[in-house]
Amino acid sequence: MSERVVTIDGPAGSGKGTVGQQLAIRLGWHFLDSGALYRACAYVAVQNGITAETIDALLDHLERVRFETKPVSQGGEARVLLNGEDISAAVRTAECGQMASKIAVNQNLRSALLNVQRKYCRPPGLVADGRDMGSVVFPKAMLKVYLTASLKVRSQRKFKQLKEKEISLKYDKIYKEIENRDLRDSTRRHAPLTTPEGALVVDTSSLSVDEVLQLVLDGVYIKMNTLESEAQ
Ligand code: DC
Repeated sequence: MSERVVTIDGPAGSGKGTVGQQLAIRLGWHFLDSGALYRACAYVAVQNGITAETIDALLDHLERVRFETKPVSQGGEARVLLNGEDISAAVRTAECGQMASKIAVNQNLRSALLNVQRKYCRPPGLVADGRDMGSVVFPKAMLKVYLTASLKVRSQRKFKQLKEKEISLKYDKIYKEIENRDLRDSTRRHAPLTTPEGALVVDTSSLSVDEVLQLVLDGVYIKMNTLESEAQ
């Protein structure tokens, strides 16, 4: 039996965050930005002097912290709260993204976050974005989506996003950073970034957010109709 979950996986800058949030708003469903959880863990690690090599020490700290992600009603990025404190800006930096990618190779950390993520699955439904949402966290999702785009386009998007936030970072540095993260995220041993079986694959390189959203919405409605007729 499939769950009322739509998973959206893909590499950095593929548009999964933007599309996922818009989709959740359109469906009136909950939204999980799993990358924000890994970023929040990276933030806690740095605050406590924990490095990627000593990451198991982070697990004790995690028992004492409470993460919340709050979607914004009109686009933008979800807010990330750590014990009630808004750490959204701190976790969106390129450094925090790199650290998140480094600690995400740790299987103990991934297991600890599994239940945290699954708790987001509540009625009326959930849109979950990340790297292993369809392959590991929600294998019974009713629709699995995989968004991708060329490295060049994804780097340009990140460059623009940072510029809008008045963060100056050279394009070449962003390109290299994303390339490194892609390699680490897709070659790690546990829950690597991969296209889940049966996923709707969309290359967003030359599509607008609205066009991608429409393709995914069409996929959701087709799935819902199929499930309804199967139930009759
Ligand atoms: O989606 P993002 O860029 O915010 O994710 C930051 C890092 O967190 C990403 O490079 C790898 C890790 N991550 C993961 O391993 N599994 C997920 N489901 C989401 C993110």
